[in-house]
Amino acid sequence: MTSRNVTDLIGSAKSALTSVNKHKEQTILDIGCGTGEATNCLMQYLPFTKSVTAIDRSMEFIDYAREVNASPRITYECLNAEKDWPKEWREKFTMVYSNYVFHWIKDHNLLLRQINRAMKVNSDLFSTILSFGSTSK
Ligand SMILES: C[S@@+](CC[C@H](N)C(=O)[O-])C[C@H]1O[C@@H](n2cnc3c(N)ncnc32)[C@H](O)[C@@H]1O
Repeated sequence: MTSRNVTDLIGSAKSALTSVNKHKEQTILDIGCGTGEATNCLMQYLPFTKSVTAIDRSMEFIDYAREVNASPRITYECLNAEKDWPKEWREKFTMVYSNYVFHWIKDHNLLLRQINRAMKVNSDLFSTILSFGSTSK
């Protein structure tokens, strides 16, 4: 996916993102950041972001993101979101963001429990997900 495609893709979510931007200095967790293009767009839309912790299970993507989409405010880490998250992440984030990743996750209950633990009070979860058919389960 090119930078331009990613900008278009999450550009459609810009108004939703900015409307939930109630924290002056966001601390964001980006789950499944891939090569970091969308992480960088996020920083453009939320310019007062203090820090972004961007994780992906692919070391190859993380290496690329560190090289090509580096920013002093972004920390890229190779981590599988379906494994235990670091204890230091408890109540750390004002926004959890994830673009086109949740459909890869097998255990959504575990994921949501970990997200809940990682969020500060009055924080936001922003996720786009591919779904086919019913999402009621
Ligand atoms: C469609 S890409 C989206 C990348 C990025 N969010 C974007 O919008 O460009 C899905 C990403 O989720 C990552 N991913 C899938 N399952 C994951 C998991 N359990 N933990 C962390 N990352 C995961 C994949 O490695 C891949 O980079």
